[in-house]
Amino acid sequence: MDNLENILSELEKQIADVKNINEVNNLKIEYLGKKGKIGSLSSIIKTLPVEEKKEFGKKLNDLKMKATDIINEKENKINEDILNDKLKNESIDITLPATKIPMGVSNILERIVEEIEELLISMGYDVVDGPEIEEDKYNFELLNIPKGHPARDAQDTFYIKDEEILLRSQTSPVQARVMLENEGKNPIRMICPGKTYRRDDDDATHSHQFMQIEGLLVDKDISLSDLKGTIDEIVKKLFGEDCVTRFRPSYYQFTEPSVEVDISCFKCKGSGCNICKNTGWITVAGAGIVHPNVLKNCGYDPNVWSGFAFGFGAERLAMLKYGINDIRAFYTTDLRELERFSRKDSE
Ligand code: DAH
Repeated sequence: MDNLENILSELEKQIADVKNINEVNNLKIEYLGKKGKIGSLSSIIKTLPVEEKKEFGKKLNDLKMKATDIINEKENKINEDILNDKLKNESIDITLPATKIPMGVSNILERIVEEIEELLISMGYDVVDGPEIEEDKYNFELLNIPKGHPARDAQDTFYIKDEEILLRSQTSPVQARVMLENEGKNPIRMICPGKTYRRDDDDATHSHQFMQIEGLLVDKDISLSDLKGTIDEIVKKLFGEDCVTRFRPSYYQFTEPSVEVDISCFKCKGSGCNICKNTGWITVAGAGIVHPNVLKNCGYDPNVWSGFAFGFGAERLAMLKYGINDIRAFYTTDLRELERFSRKDSE
């Protein structure tokens, strides 16, 4: 019986030094396990005289309960310490600056297109779409560029099937499509931004895929000054109010007269810099008065109707506006390259 008291004080002594759950478990086995210091005592009961059995049994039970309490208490204490430790060390410091999550932004090519769309929609234009896989008829023939005409050489075309189906080399075929749809009856104001393809070797200023923004207006008594006014509005919107336009005579098969549109250099304001190659002017579009043959081919009577058309190179506009010097930047999937566009966003 005395021994029982000793066992308890021994446990108390030992448990004071215990530092982790492993040690608690070891003590559990050492004392309460079947062969443990307390656990093994049950087997003594049957060897005792009857009169002692009851008292011993009661004391042993008492001892078991006390020992279990002591061990549980220690176990709880250790678990609590672990939790407190965790709470202390893993606490969230809400004053820490948050990690920046990179935000997606629209490609600046799209932004240029949207700016032009917004302006021209406000001037009554429709934004239309056309197929990228096009027929020779629309891409060339209706636009006054018959088969075998040398003007075709200027646009190294990707042919898909024979000489009939191709990847459009310009957005101008959409002019023909829209005119034919209107059957020579209605005035037309449309723009068509879209992808175009040419067999160019890719370099800093050429890409086999690029984007044009086509414009067409057909109405009555349309002159070059209407074209000039419209182009002026577009470039002022993109490059600022003090940007002026100059028309240079040029040649396109589907316009007569044809012009090359130059804008005054928005960087040096005409004094000469690397952007305008010291000329003070930058070419941004081709344009002209719709050729009577094109009107006729597409069902409009040239004696009644007249119109103007223009085609901007979207990448060129974006490169100029945002100071990008390699056209391939628009078509890369490299996030480090694209990241530059998000910085341009705030400019
Ligand atoms: N399609 C021409 C090109 O790709 C650009 C162009 C010039 C479009 C004159 C026009 C235009 O609508 O009138 O080079």
